[in-house]
Amino acid sequence: MSAAAGSELRFDGKVAVVTGAGQGLGRSHALLLAQRGAKVVVNDLGGSLDGSGASSGPAAEVVELIVKNGGEAVASTDNVATPEGAEAVVQAALDAFGRVDVLVNNAGILRDRSLGKMTVEEFDSVLAVHVRGSFLVSRAAFPHMKEQAYGRIVNTSSPAGLFGNFGQANYSTAKMGLVGLTKTLGIEGARAGIRANAIAPIAWTRMTETLLPAEFEDKFTPERVSPLVAYLAHESCTTSGEVFSVGAGRVARVFVAEGPGWRTDDLTIEAIAGNWDAIMAEQPYLQPTGLGQQATASLQAML
Ligand code: NAI
Repeated sequence: MSAAAGSELRFDGKVAVVTGAGQGLGRSHALLLAQRGAKVVVNDLGGSLDGSGASSGPAAEVVELIVKNGGEAVASTDNVATPEGAEAVVQAALDAFGRVDVLVNNAGILRDRSLGKMTVEEFDSVLAVHVRGSFLVSRAAFPHMKEQAYGRIVNTSSPAGLFGNFGQANYSTAKMGLVGLTKTLGIEGARAGIRANAIAPIAWTRMTETLLPAEFEDKFTPERVSPLVAYLAHESCTTSGEVFSVGAGRVARVFVAEGPGWRTDDLTIEAIAGNWDAIMAEQPYLQPTGLGQQATASLQAML
């Protein structure tokens, strides 16, 4: 049991921005953070699952619920995928509450199609919300977090990105892209007390209700994901650059590792073919914490 277990982890005095918080996972994250004392910017464009349309309804409803429960929140209907929209989301936090401590990049859309049929527009629009949106809102929040020498960023990856999924070339590319963004934010934020991590959730929402078996509805609730987001957003969590799979109450670290490898001074196509089993070996694995460590492994193999 960690030192923090037992005492309630709270967010009093902290300001959190949650994107895509009008429904589904983001709504659940926003409600939990507000319940624990955070002042929350509930951002949501209010469009359909494929990103078309817009409505101020979902964000306003979540704000209303938070306020009704005694919390503090403001709505933002800005589009995270545009530079102006992303700046406006962070500005909403500064205008209403004077700071931004926590950013949960959660907004997302789906435009599934098998590779041969996927249009450039379907590819670009999905990357625009997930990857560009997370980059843009993080970029807008970063200087404020740096100035106060404190920040927590939680990005939303997906098992579809980490492990691949049929019909999701756009989405899985975006979601693995968020792993790279998270790791780099973790490195760039380290000296300023900014921690960045990512979750790869599974939850019953409008995004998954037609994909998941019906019996998942009660087990894979958004409320069984949000506590991880809140922990990663809490000041007591100093972990950074990591990815966690979370669903139905289970939380597990997902890590990128490199096998021990095989080397020769005379690398040929045939040498690779002849040593394929050694190249594919997983143990003992190395988990580089950055480019330098990865390159060092190649150098050490020469010794
Ligand atoms: P959802 O569709 O219920 O929620 C996504 C929200 O993002 C919507 O309310 C939508 O209006 C908002 N949004 C979309 N584009 C936006 C934009 N440009 N600016 C501002 N808001 C925008 O879906 P769900 O399931 O709650 O998804 C939340 C996040 O979790 C997404 O990033 C999704 O890819 C990710 N995820 C969800 C999984 C699941 O099992 N539900 C699995 C893996 C990842």
